[in-house]
Amino acid sequence: MDFETIIEPFKIKSVESLPITTSDQRKEYLEREYWNVFGLKSQEVTIDLLTDSGTGSMSSEQWAAIMRGDEAYAGSHSWQRFHEVVSELTGYKHIIPTHQGRASEKILATITLKEGDIIPSNSHFDTTRANFEFANAIPVDLLCEEGLDLLSPSPFKGNIDLEKLEELLKSEDSDKVPFVLMTITNNTGGGQPVSMENLKKVRELCTKYNKMFLLDACRFAENAWFVSQREEKYKNVEIREITKEAFRLADGCTISLKKDGFGNIGGILAFNDDELAEAARNLLILTEGFPTYGGLAGRDLDALAQGLKEITDRNYLEYRARSISYLAEKAKNAGIPIVQPAGGHALYIDAKNFVPDIPSHQYPGHSVACEIYLIGGVRAVELGTLAFGVAGKNGQPDTPATHELVRLAAPRRTYTQSHFDYVGEVLEKLSDTKDKLKGYEILEQPKQLRHFTAKLKPIS
Ligand code: F0G
Repeated sequence: MDFETIIEPFKIKSVESLPITTSDQRKEYLEREYWNVFGLKSQEVTIDLLTDSGTGSMSSEQWAAIMRGDEAYAGSHSWQRFHEVVSELTGYKHIIPTHQGRASEKILATITLKEGDIIPSNSHFDTTRANFEFANAIPVDLLCEEGLDLLSPSPFKGNIDLEKLEELLKSEDSDKVPFVLMTITNNTGGGQPVSMENLKKVRELCTKYNKMFLLDACRFAENAWFVSQREEKYKNVEIREITKEAFRLADGCTISLKKDGFGNIGGILAFNDDELAEAARNLLILTEGFPTYGGLAGRDLDALAQGLKEITDRNYLEYRARSISYLAEKAKNAGIPIVQPAGGHALYIDAKNFVPDIPSHQYPGHSVACEIYLIGGVRAVELGTLAFGVAGKNGQPDTPATHELVRLAAPRRTYTQSHFDYVGEVLEKLSDTKDKLKGYEILEQPKQLRHFTAKLKPIS
């Protein structure tokens, strides 16, 4: 369409009030939670950009599908409808439903990994990394050069470095590699897409070195949208066809359907390999449930089946990408350095660049995320040394993460353009106060995934 205004390609049928809080209240809430935004209650958050996972709005067709839910323990109608849609979309022989992405990852790790195994990826998401490390395996990120440069405007910054991948696959460590995992889009690297060309080359390398090729395909539709916009060969190809082709390049996948499944809960583990699928189903029965429902109710499976039909709609994907780039424009105009180009599901602020005086081990991204909440009740999340760094032992500083990012992730079909205008205003105010920002120290932290529950305090 030749219009500047981004219209949401849907109208609103049911509304939920947004809490409006005062500056004093926000300070009190955050202090109470030891300066960890994960501790905040939802009624204390005005615009919640903590995650795009499970936070989207369902369509009226999805709610109608919920009413069709068949709760039979085995072989329900809901399962059949879900199975049909997922099979058509992915083409995999075995579809295993789980309650969410990390449940798929846990099963995958348990049935495929042994101590010392190496899993190459463009970038592993944090739960994926944690699940593989829990199995004593070694996840390695082989992101392409452009992806490491936050400010480069390259179109496919989620690509894997093919030379580094081949180096590993032909090295003496090759025997330790059970599979290659490509994350589309690359959440950790800023929600950046992977090109079809890169996926095809990974396929070729996996075939050449006899390795299984898996996708972490949480945001498969957003990836396909970028492919349709940026990869010449795919300009006139239907989004659904691009997604189908991507899935068919790999031998299986994990998916969190809380993202591009338009679901509030749900996941998939899928393989072409019979033996692996059998091992996965055996474990599924122990941990999630019978293979025709996994960890889900029949009604969830029906809502997801409908969501998986809606997600490849061109109008929706265009609105989605444009709302993120709209917010990115606002951030840039406010003088805030952001990862370029804007990602598929979120805006990422480069905190290292924005507040260079706060060292990594004092969590500059966390400081920015706290300030964003204090200014306007907007909840964002640090993806830097607090989330991905390695805690220092015996009073030593942490080993820092590669980047210090702050993510503002947009729930699907939930906020309107005026909400994004409001967030833009919060970012302007953030820019005005940046010289006042202080680093943080950790008071208490768990061994794994510390950013969820760590207790912190500002350094005075
Ligand atoms: N893989 C990727 C790329 C993800 O982004 C996530 C979740 C998962 C796997 C795990 O899925 O949450 O259903 O268990 N990402 C969320 C986020 C949590 O906020 O980015 P899950």
